[in-house]
Amino acid sequence: MSLKSNRLLALGILQNMLSDKGTLSTQLNKITLEHPDANLPLIQEYTYGVCRWYHRLEVILTELMDKPLRKKDQDIHCLLLLGLYQLYYMRTPDHAAINETVALTRRLGKDWASKLVNAILRNAQRKQEALEADSAVPSIAGYSHPQWMITALKNDWPDQWEGILFKNNIQAPMTLRVNTRRIDRESYLAQLAKGDIAGKPGNISTTAIILDQAVDVTQLPGFAEGLVSVQDETSQMVAALLAVEPNSRCLDACAAPGGKTCALLENQPDNLELYALDNSNSRLEKVRENLARLQLQATLLCGNAQDTASWWDGKPFDSILLDAPCTGTGVIRRHPDIKLLRHSEDAPRLASIQQQLLTALWPCLKKGGRMLYSTCSVLKAENTLQIEAFLASTKDATIVDITLPGAIPCHAGLQFLPGQDNLDGFYYALLEKV
Ligand SMILES: C[S@@+](CC[C@H](N)C(=O)[O-])C[C@H]1O[C@@H](n2cnc3c(N)ncnc32)[C@H](O)[C@@H]1O
Repeated sequence: MSLKSNRLLALGILQNMLSDKGTLSTQLNKITLEHPDANLPLIQEYTYGVCRWYHRLEVILTELMDKPLRKKDQDIHCLLLLGLYQLYYMRTPDHAAINETVALTRRLGKDWASKLVNAILRNAQRKQEALEADSAVPSIAGYSHPQWMITALKNDWPDQWEGILFKNNIQAPMTLRVNTRRIDRESYLAQLAKGDIAGKPGNISTTAIILDQAVDVTQLPGFAEGLVSVQDETSQMVAALLAVEPNSRCLDACAAPGGKTCALLENQPDNLELYALDNSNSRLEKVRENLARLQLQATLLCGNAQDTASWWDGKPFDSILLDAPCTGTGVIRRHPDIKLLRHSEDAPRLASIQQQLLTALWPCLKKGGRMLYSTCSVLKAENTLQIEAFLASTKDATIVDITLPGAIPCHAGLQFLPGQDNLDGFYYALLEKV
């Protein structure tokens, strides 16, 4: 597939994402299936890069244009963002970045735009130093985040917000979870070394390996056979914190795509009766695929966790993992499109869903049982404030003290901030029914 075609595919993904027709990762998965000859790493670089720097590129582009393009020419707008990204952030020689972008106007059937695109990008090239200086911090362009997120982070983390914003714009490492039922971490590191893949043990999880450079999973030794999975260390820690007992009954209430379901099963191989529930059938398919690859077993349930009568047989669970739907503000390093797809009203909306999930699932837990509540958010309304409110309104709930190296103790629960020790932003609260 030609460079132009790969750029056209990237352009399509960006346009869809900007009109709320799918996240980058779902669209890239689709491209993998529909265009097996596409250069996925290159398309990924274009699309993730534009999203990472979108708020900065938009400000620069506005300065370079006399007036905005019409709604029906949003493809040209996206093309300009892509061209600017190539010019400022990629190693493509300037003339090639400009010429390739101009050539794409013709592929889009919009020859009229070629002069305009050429003029804007040449101007961007000439004025790069001044334009970049103009978009220095503190500003939306400088931080390359939407204003509502900057304000929310400032409010919740008055001493750390700026660090969070900077680290959100740095790509996260690729981290693996070794399936220690099948191979120990040292032996897997040796297998990686044999394949010339450099990595080192993780800092907080005994099953984690951090790769020096991301690789396609198909290059990982034994990936298809289930020796490893891709998962950040903070997510891996869920299994150690919930510490389910052998011969027990456990519910993973928001399970798909199953990263934590599998981590729980790998951590407790002894006769664990695990139920993986999700309200999305298509996402449950991913859980099924992951379980099959890792040769693990769980009972899959499709249903709304809030409507327990529709899926629960009434037998209490010894432990519950509630990895709740959230804003994802802790994983922007991995999913920069979150900055574009999430809006200020999402935080209170999701906080209300989380509260309903906690309340609905609590009766499913047996007396003496434990529930681990987790999110990949850094907003307090979804984390410590959520759990403080739950504890205040639930007489038979108490919080269990947990510690993890480097995690910030909150009033209730533990928080990792994104990029701290190169980990994802993540929150945990371990609750016990008394
Ligand atoms: C943060 S993701 C879970 C990630 C998963 N635990 C993992 O580690 O792979 C949240 C999941 O909750 C599911 N979900 C959202 N609302 C739900 C509900 N009311 N009942 C059941 N599942 C729900 C979503 O479909 C999504 O798959």
